[in-house]
Amino acid sequence: MAIINYSAYFLFLLLSTVLPLFLFSCSEKVEAYRFGEMFANHQLHTFHVVSLSSLQPAAVCSTSAQGSKNICKLLPVAHKYGPCSPLKKGKSKFSIARQILIDDENRVKSIHSKISNKQSPVADSTITLPANSGAYLGTGNFVVNIGIGTPEKKFTVAFDTGSDLTWIQCLPCNASQCYSQQDPYFNPSASSTYSNIPCNSSVCTQLQLILGDTLSCNTTTTCQYQIFYGDSSFSQGDFATDTLTLSSSDVFPDFQFGCGHNNQGLFGSTDGLLGLSRDQISLVSQTVQRYGKLFSYCLPPTSSSTGFLAFGCEAGSSSTLQYTPLLTNQNDPLSYYLNMTGISVGGQMLNISESVFTTSGTIIDSGTVITRLAPTAYSALRSAFRQGMSKYPMAPSPNSIFDTCYDFSGYSTVDLPTIGLNFEGDTDLNVDQSGTLFQASSTVYCLAFAGNSADTDLGILGNTQQLTFEVVYDVEGAKLGFGAGACS
Ligand SMILES: *[C@@H]1O[C@H](CO)[C@@H](O)[C@H](O)[C@H]1NC(C)=O
Ligand SMILES: *[C@@H]1O[C@H](CO)[C@@H](O)[C@H](O)[C@H]1NC(C)=O
Ligand SMILES: *[C@@H]1O[C@H](CO)[C@@H](O)[C@H](O)[C@H]1NC(C)=O
Ligand SMILES: *[C@@H]1O[C@H](CO)[C@@H](O)[C@H](O)[C@H]1NC(C)=O
Ligand SMILES: *[C@@H]1O[C@H](CO)[C@@H](O)[C@H](O)[C@H]1NC(C)=O
Repeated sequence: MAIINYSAYFLFLLLSTVLPLFLFSCSEKVEAYRFGEMFANHQLHTFHVVSLSSLQPAAVCSTSAQGSKNICKLLPVAHKYGPCSPLKKGKSKFSIARQILIDDENRVKSIHSKISNKQSPVADSTITLPANSGAYLGTGNFVVNIGIGTPEKKFTVAFDTGSDLTWIQCLPCNASQCYSQQDPYFNPSASSTYSNIPCNSSVCTQLQLILGDTLSCNTTTTCQYQIFYGDSSFSQGDFATDTLTLSSSDVFPDFQFGCGHNNQGLFGSTDGLLGLSRDQISLVSQTVQRYGKLFSYCLPPTSSSTGFLAFGCEAGSSSTLQYTPLLTNQNDPLSYYLNMTGISVGGQMLNISESVFTTSGTIIDSGTVITRLAPTAYSALRSAFRQGMSKYPMAPSPNSIFDTCYDFSGYSTVDLPTIGLNFEGDTDLNVDQSGTLFQASSTVYCLAFAGNSADTDLGILGNTQQLTFEVVYDVEGAKLGFGAGACS
């Protein structure tokens, strides 16, 4: 919907909402009350009344039976660091939160630098990233189990719509060449279906083009790959094929993946990575005959609950799916582009020109945690959110990424203004209460959005705002769907 349609509405809002605020601005308490009352009287659902304890993960994992339709393959999804994850824990909750945000900043820098490398020769100097690298740091906080080899071995891998090559750590590798992981390393010589891909094959050329690798091919008969992430972590090894098993009825012989013999970095102790980008070597492309490039996921609201990753159909969210076109960008064929058109807070459209969104463009990414908006859009969101939250004491941000944090000491419930993200096709992503705030410390919660440094930087719809929605990627149908309340 064009912004012009809202101008009369804005005038009404201005008169009904902003003016009373000015009149009552002599007393903060009264101002907050008036504002809340205005919101409350509005027809649309304008606040989430959130019990803070509901935002806390429990100590134990509760899995939910999800997906009413059973025709597609559902893999349970767990948060990498929570009680549902099979991976080792040990760090405290808030040190993990800090690390997640640092990784997230680096991932966003890699994404922005990769796009700007394509458009102009000026690179972001704060991060070293080889041009054309198919890799983003962070690689997602959500993990699934996959089987590789014959006999099948299970691996816990992060899945990432921003990555193309699937890889796992492989033997031979020793302490100095692989990072430690929970499961035994994959041993290719113990799998009867494993083979290396020869160097002179066309898939090897294709892989090296996609990854931007310049590995010489005449010293070995085996195709080599190397992927560098933004923080000097990397994976390097043989490009190989083996049987991929998602379930007893979903078995893919000759699946192409990276058998990493030399891997370093902070991959959170996952055994590797599952690439779900649009590229030819991603799982999505390699399973096209079976699943038709259709997959979906639901990311759970807390790290103590589970979601799903589904292939081949919509998994069956209870609500109707709303679709928006899935766009492509010639300069960035790997990513899933959306046409974002507006933002609402408390049911009220913000006055942001559509050109603010089109200047930057927007991708949806499963691996970025916090949504990044053009600064103009972010500041409009921030000020409306702060107005709706004016009865709560603000707190200094414990992290440079956020600037709108609240100290909820002494509160058991809070009223959060609803946030809606609007996309082409009248599609609204009405962010779940679990996707509005990021808990930075025991009492401090921050608005889980951030501004880019320039309006020209790519906008990114991050995974916090996707929590609890079924997000359907229909690549062949060129559309992306959102269905609320899908994880439980
Ligand atoms: C919306 O913003 C534009 C440009 O910032 C401004 O000219 C216009 O008056 C605003 N409209 C309303 C209803 O606030
Ligand atoms: C193990 O690491 C050492 C030191 O980096 C290296 O010399 C050796 O070849 C490695 N072993 C294998 C099996 O890769
Ligand atoms: C690759 O090299 C092998 C061994 O030299 C040869 O038999 C095969 O035909 C070559 N394949 C291609 C596609 O060039
Ligand atoms: C083979 O590899 C060597 C060393 O990497 C390189 O100098 C040479 O140019 C390569 N030859 C061909 C035909 O690619
Ligand atoms: C985005 O959506 C708007 C509103 O529907 C439309 O006018 C515009 O052409 C779309 N932009 C692109 C790049 O598809």
